[in-house]
Amino acid sequence: MSTSPIGIVLGSGLGPLAEAVVVEREVPFAEAGLPASTVPGHQGCFVFGSLDGVSVVLMKGRVHLYEGHPPQAVTAGVRWLAEQGVGRLILTNAAGTLNPEFAPGSWMLLADHLNLTSTSPLHGADFIDLTTAYDAQWREVFRTAAAARGMPLHEGVYAGLRGPQYETPAEVRMLRTLGADAVGMSTVLETIQARALGMTVLGFSCLTNWAAGINREPLDHQEVLTAGKAAADAMVQLLREVVARD
Ligand code: HPA
Repeated sequence: MSTSPIGIVLGSGLGPLAEAVVVEREVPFAEAGLPASTVPGHQGCFVFGSLDGVSVVLMKGRVHLYEGHPPQAVTAGVRWLAEQGVGRLILTNAAGTLNPEFAPGSWMLLADHLNLTSTSPLHGADFIDLTTAYDAQWREVFRTAAAARGMPLHEGVYAGLRGPQYETPAEVRMLRTLGADAVGMSTVLETIQARALGMTVLGFSCLTNWAAGINREPLDHQEVLTAGKAAADAMVQLLREVVARD
């Protein structure tokens, strides 16, 4: 068993993951030097506790570029988690799906990402290698555990954009051409920061909706939150199973 806690960043609507955790203490974002999030569905605090006896630190909510924060503020939580001794980090997010085979309501393990934010939390000569940004061995553990439970778990490329507007259908076609399977407004900068700090990183997208133009319905933030809540239960079970084996 590893003694260092696992960090888990909870995206939009994924708060139910926190209910499975036995809470020891909470630290509001402000106390950790982070700006408070302004987005509905994003509560800003860290939760120290245990999940089936394994130490975890949850980051409930996150800071986004689209709120007007610089990349360094967006990734301050990841640096803070590293200071708390977190060496392994699970990033979750809500995303639109562009892959016709990845239906909304299911999860996608991030195999890789496209950082389309035009920025980075790093500066200077921080030429870090991102050949395997999302840990291959840890991915395999989750893939195997999901298959054993019969839980659909896709694997693909996440495109991280700045937002806050959702994409146009033309942008969604462009993203598909670029090789993306899912699109969202977070995660990529956090991954870059975490890898620069030597953390082991895993990413999960909760596919909450078809990306714009894939069906004809307009996108709505409430739909994203509702789909996230329903799919969160499946992820709680999977996380418990994998983390408990730690
Ligand atoms: N696009 C961008 N971000 C998102 C989406 C989307 O369709 N769904 C949830 N987050």
